[in-house]
Amino acid sequence: MPRFSPEFQTGLAQLMRWRRDVRRFRTDPVDDACLRACFESFLTAPSVGLSEPWRILRVTSPAARDAALDNFRTANDRALAGYEGEQAALYAGLKLSGMQDAPVQLAIFCDETTDKGKGLGAGTMPEMRRYSVVGAITQFWLTARAHGLGVGWVSILDPDRLSRDLSAPEGWRLVAYLCVGWPEDESETPELEIAGWEDRRATLPIEDR
Ligand SMILES: Cc1cc2nc3c(=O)[nH]c(=O)nc-3n(C[C@H](O)[C@H](O)[C@H](O)COP(=O)(O)O)c2cc1C
Repeated sequence: MPRFSPEFQTGLAQLMRWRRDVRRFRTDPVDDACLRACFESFLTAPSVGLSEPWRILRVTSPAARDAALDNFRTANDRALAGYEGEQAALYAGLKLSGMQDAPVQLAIFCDETTDKGKGLGAGTMPEMRRYSVVGAITQFWLTARAHGLGVGWVSILDPDRLSRDLSAPEGWRLVAYLCVGWPEDESETPELEIAGWEDRRATLPIEDR
């Protein structure tokens, strides 16, 4: 086991502070070796019962990308209709996906039917398989950032429609649609905070019982 130096610990904290959800990408491509290095992070991720339920579809064809973008636009219009007044105006001005520019787009699913892990831990809480996928995505997100890449998580989508459009197998549940590429700019502050939508908490909600 390597000893992680104080410098490494500082670097890790910086990586987390600078991670960001990225919605503005340069259009230059991401080379395969760099992407492969980021995908490696899935291979070490924790999962309930070691079920490793993540399944990744690379969304590359123009038809699949158009379907995903149209899905987002429909869902986003519907979401906007749920706000009123000042909040609606603010929402309308937010950029909530980089799907038009991101050179790499990934649909990440959870295989809810996998036998891997022999059901350990998922019998009481089957949703743990999905949480495992979320944990793995976090590793990917940080690894990508360490390589200089930005990742943006898009959830304003109809998951059943996207699953159909991408011909995802029965039993796979969409967890994330990720846009990946070189960020246009970098910031220590979340974009939603800059836009005046929401602020990051200054303290941790933690209590003793
Ligand atoms: C599960 C999940 C879903 C998200 N979905 C969206 C989304 O649909 N559109 C978007 O612009 N950002 C989305 N985000 C990004 C959040 O808005 C972002 O994480 C938050 O504002 C904090 O900013 P930061 O990630 O830059 O620290 C999502 C993040 C998570 C973890």
